[in-house]
Amino acid sequence: MKNAKIIGVGKALPELVVSNKMMEEIVDTNDKWIREMTGIENRHVVTTETTTSLATDAAREALLDAGLPAEEVDMILVATMTPDDFMPSTACKVQHALGAVNASALDVSAACSGFVYAMSVADQFIKTGKMQNILVIGAEVITKTIDWEDRTTCVIFADGAGAVVLTASDEEGIVATDLGAKGEPGDILRTPALNNNNHFAQTEAERSVMTMDGQTVFRFSTKIFGQSVRKVLEGTGYGIEDIDIFVPHQANVRIIDYAASRLKVDVDRFYVNLNKRGNTSAATIPIALADMNEEGLLKKGMLICCTGFGGGLTWGSALIRI
Ligand code: UT7
Repeated sequence: MKNAKIIGVGKALPELVVSNKMMEEIVDTNDKWIREMTGIENRHVVTTETTTSLATDAAREALLDAGLPAEEVDMILVATMTPDDFMPSTACKVQHALGAVNASALDVSAACSGFVYAMSVADQFIKTGKMQNILVIGAEVITKTIDWEDRTTCVIFADGAGAVVLTASDEEGIVATDLGAKGEPGDILRTPALNNNNHFAQTEAERSVMTMDGQTVFRFSTKIFGQSVRKVLEGTGYGIEDIDIFVPHQANVRIIDYAASRLKVDVDRFYVNLNKRGNTSAATIPIALADMNEEGLLKKGMLICCTGFGGGLTWGSALIRI
């Protein structure tokens, strides 16, 4: 049986960088609160960029890193909850932009856990021998769904995309994945979609903006993190002490601190780029991988654990040998 091995990583970020000071001009907030309560200092926000353009740029970088021609990609998975269109999918648009003519294409919707979900889907196709090369992308333009008068969300969320190329390999790659969902209480983190404006059932219009019960999501996240890490390790022969670096969903630095202390792991073993990237939902983990690669922190042979959590509610971990 083959393993899904990461052979390339890439990222794309919008040009505009918005600092906490700039946020002070927009809502009743301040740099000190944002830094201390979330760990965020700057975030990238789209102006002209789209989910598709960010996803395509990140994918191009990952393919270049892998040295893989686009025509050799068998499948493109895009984890996003902010597609440019309901149809066609972002994955199809990326397939066209890349010229990945032999790839099937599918969007995966699992909010902030989307990238881990997509990695797990890709892993199954590679393990069964059905596919050789899969491009997994996390791409979001979350700031388009934000109420810019809601200071509890607009200071946190940000935009960007990250991508990895997985290939079938005899070496160890994705060791195991753990996925979970709890549809109730899904409404604590919600972005409504279509209003029913058909001829027969006109309903009261609902704005398509994100709402979040931050404290409840916070409690859920700190609890589920450790549970998912322990679950993904089950039956692998590895323990928490074998993980070189944890690559958590970048939602709040306090969630990361809690997770580390609950797992009794030094927080230095957790990669954090939240300060400069903000919360880009499904894109946080692949952007983190690309940042780590750039910083020389993603070394061949290391064991990493990527853990996502968020809307749905959903969660997931991927234990990966680099
Ligand atoms: O990625 C998807 C998953 N999402 C998450 O994991 C997010 C999880 N939740 C969080 O990260 C935190 O709940 C927040 C950072 C969103 C908020 O932190 P909190 O400790 O839950 O604060 P809070 O909502 O209880 O608010 C504390 C105070 C309130 O003021 P009072 O009532 O104590 O006077 C808020 O009005 O902070 C106030 N506040 C702000 N002040 C300045 C809330 N947002 C802001 C703000 N600037 N942006």
